[in-house]
Amino acid sequence: MNRRFAKLALAFVTATALMSGSAFASSDGDAAKGKKVFNKCKACHSLEAGKNKIGPSLNGVFGRAAGAVEGYKYSKAMKESGLTWDEETLEDYLEKPKKFIPGNKMAFAGLRKEKQRDDLIAYLKEAAM
Ligand code: HEC
Repeated sequence: MNRRFAKLALAFVTATALMSGSAFASSDGDAAKGKKVFNKCKACHSLEAGKNKIGPSLNGVFGRAAGAVEGYKYSKAMKESGLTWDEETLEDYLEKPKKFIPGNKMAFAGLRKEKQRDDLIAYLKEAAM
């Protein structure tokens, strides 16, 4: 191997390592991991439009007003929350559902870890659109 090629190869390896490493590991969630986190929600939520389970369908949840899925019987607390679901409101709700919207009927304790919430939200952005 000549030296010039060796240098080039080294530069390439370094660049690849940088790209897959810290340079891109921002606070943004990992959708693949979020898919696993969604297993905690699956018993009650579908991502299919119009398919309500114990909880309302989460299809198209981003940008939607809380309590707006047609045909789903929400609690008064959810309907009157006045919230719109986006990254921020989902973060807060999923951390402690009962605390963020007192009286809502989602029987879920919450996701304590910020990383899990970030991953889940990244997944929902892909899968719930
Ligand atoms: C035990 C069942 C259950 C589990 C588990 C559960 N949910 Fe829910 N979820 C509900 C119910 C019931 C409601 C409706 C709450 C109300 O009307 O007060 C709801 C409401 C919601 C809403 C508001 C939807 C809307 O249309 O306004 C979101 C968003 C949501 N859940 C996300 C999640 C996510 C994400 C998870 C997993 C981390 C999860 N839920 C886990 C039952 C559940």
